[in-house]
Amino acid sequence: MNPTRDAILARLGSSNVPVSGDLLARDFGLSRTGVWKHIQSLRKQGIDIASLPGRGYLLRSDVLSAALLHSRLKNRRIGSTILVLDEADSTNREVMQRAESGAEEGLVVIAQKQNAGRGRLGRSWFTSAENSLAMSVLLRPAMSPEHVPQLSLVTAVAIQRALSGFAPQVRIKWPNDLLAGGAKLAGILTEMRAEPGRVHAVVLGIGINISKPAGGWPKTITQGVTDLTSAAGRDISRSDVAVSVIEALDDCYEEYLAHGFERIRQWWWEAHAASGQSVRAHGENGYVEGIAEALDEDGALLLRVDGEIRRFVAGDIELIDNGNMGSSS
Ligand code: BTN
Repeated sequence: MNPTRDAILARLGSSNVPVSGDLLARDFGLSRTGVWKHIQSLRKQGIDIASLPGRGYLLRSDVLSAALLHSRLKNRRIGSTILVLDEADSTNREVMQRAESGAEEGLVVIAQKQNAGRGRLGRSWFTSAENSLAMSVLLRPAMSPEHVPQLSLVTAVAIQRALSGFAPQVRIKWPNDLLAGGAKLAGILTEMRAEPGRVHAVVLGIGINISKPAGGWPKTITQGVTDLTSAAGRDISRSDVAVSVIEALDDCYEEYLAHGFERIRQWWWEAHAASGQSVRAHGENGYVEGIAEALDEDGALLLRVDGEIRRFVAGDIELIDNGNMGSSS
């Protein structure tokens, strides 16, 4: 996009009242006609901008634009570079490729649409334009690979906090799903490049269901699924969600780098839907039932089973005798 046009869009997007043509002309060193031409070009791209007589221009589309996100996210480690792509196969793959070419920590890539979105445990992840937020973040922490699972938990806490600002009932489900009303609202896929003792790159992939697709959810999704618009009971802007998630992730990551995992672990446990409850844990060898007792240093779930503590490092859980929490992701 043309940089001036991008900046005008960012200016309109950061205001919830109309911005006058005079003000835009002054701020961007243009004539009123010059401003109008940029507005027309934006409209031709399908962006809905109202002209309100005597008041100015008002952005009515929920536009995801890198310039707009940048203008709302200042002095943050995460979001130091933001790219918004119309289409990607997977934003995780996109970020990992850029990491291999030397991209710096904090890079955020958002795709309007993913053609081959990836989920945990080899599953696929559905992302449609307008209804979803698909975002990946590059971290380069100076830590050993064994601790990387903690970063997924940092991310889960951040997303729970961010989405709770839109819908109050958002909870985490081990290991790092986000639920609303027991149905899946968002998921996290963490991938890394490392060698023994040293992490080169961690990619945090975040997928959030913003609204229900017009044609409904694909039939291939068999689990309980929900979206932020339904959970909140009002329209939700993807830009607002992206800004909240990036801010919360930046805060939680700073907390983690400065003070370690302990506070994050407490926050995670408080936000976890099954803390202290009876759960069924599904792993590679079937399932086990027990009480969710704690989350350990490595992000493993500790279950009390027949009076003994058992440790679960991978898999999924479901709450027993409670319709309030879904099963696998
Ligand atoms: C899960 O299975 O719950 C994790 C889903 C993660 C999906 C996100 S969408 C953005 C990023 N790109 C991907 O291909 N996957 C993650």
